[in-house]
Amino acid sequence: MSNKKTTYSEYLNLDKILDSQNPLSNISGKPIHDETLFIIIHQIYELWFKQIIHEIDSIINYFSNPSIKETNINTVVSRLNRINDIQKIALNQIDILKSMTPMDFLEFRDLLNPASGFQSAQFRIIENSLGLKKENRLKFSKQNYKDFLSRPEKKIVEKYENTKSIFDLVEGWLERTPFLESEEFNFWESYKNAIRKMLDRDMKIIHDNPNLNSDAKNEQIENYKNIYKNYDSLFDEEEYDKLIKNNSKRLSQKASLAALFIMLYRDEPILQSPFRLLTKLIDIDQALNSWRYNHALLAQRMIGTKIGSGGSSGSKYLTKTLSKHSIFDDYANLSTYLIPKSALPKLPETLKNKLGYYFINE
Ligand code: HEM
Repeated sequence: MSNKKTTYSEYLNLDKILDSQNPLSNISGKPIHDETLFIIIHQIYELWFKQIIHEIDSIINYFSNPSIKETNINTVVSRLNRINDIQKIALNQIDILKSMTPMDFLEFRDLLNPASGFQSAQFRIIENSLGLKKENRLKFSKQNYKDFLSRPEKKIVEKYENTKSIFDLVEGWLERTPFLESEEFNFWESYKNAIRKMLDRDMKIIHDNPNLNSDAKNEQIENYKNIYKNYDSLFDEEEYDKLIKNNSKRLSQKASLAALFIMLYRDEPILQSPFRLLTKLIDIDQALNSWRYNHALLAQRMIGTKIGSGGSSGSKYLTKTLSKHSIFDDYANLSTYLIPKSALPKLPETLKNKLGYYFINE
């Protein structure tokens, strides 16, 4: 065994990393100053993508066990937090690229044609492993998103497409939540009563409001009827199925109810980590959308309404991915069903004990 001590640059493989910026404008004999920045920013992104995938793989691994321990949930939450922290930095890096003017970009843009962000296999892996389904992807020119990838990249992206995503695994975990099965207490009946009371009170305020004319009153009453219907559909299997079929919802009814319970009673000790987990999924999804939006704005300021090097409609395509490629919308939309803490039904003592950490005197 050699006893040669490793050095900083050997450990970090700096030879390879620092020798990996090869601006095409240098090769063409007419170096363009800003191309180095363009390359380095993309490389840094790909490194962060690699780290994010590393975290996601470990989370998928934890959730793939038939049961997941409380301590593991805490580890999962820390890793989701780390992903979210990376996303915040990644979002700000777009600003550095704005220091390059659109005309500076034009100096070398043609040289990299037809290379495009469409060919980022790691970006697709992140989307797939979080839970973006292939049938929900935005299509252009009827092309499959995998057509842009090399054969080995396609294989690995496909692997993530065909294995359970974080969305699927968290859904399954929520469906197994045991807390709601209590013979002495029908939680959802009490909850529905609390909602009804709240809505009836709102409806009375509309009726009694002297400042509303009859048209405005009717409009608000109609609006509230929809709200009543919306609440009812959450508890009605048939109605909920219709929402799944017309793509208004993706998360199963059982998982939605469990997630709602966690959100409502997030202060109970045992629900605190699950609550943080659900909140982080929303944070990650929304941070991805913030990046998508800022990237679309970047594309607009750099190339205006021109098409992208991958052949899409450019910033117009990128803006559309925001609503189409969101993954955890159903969790954010559960806020529709929240009620004030003061109106929450009181949980029976036996259930409360199950949800609390309590000391037993031996
Ligand atoms: C001058 C700066 C940039 C411009 C003008 C630009 C433009 C575009 C355009 C127009 C597309 C749509 C696909 C196409 O037709 O080519 C795209 C896709 C993409 N770009 Fe960029 N981009 C820039 C910087 C970046 C950076 C710094 C990253 C970092 C990784 C990036 C990653 C991506 C990814 C992942 C996609 C695929 C997005 C999706 O399909 O949802 N781009 N870019």
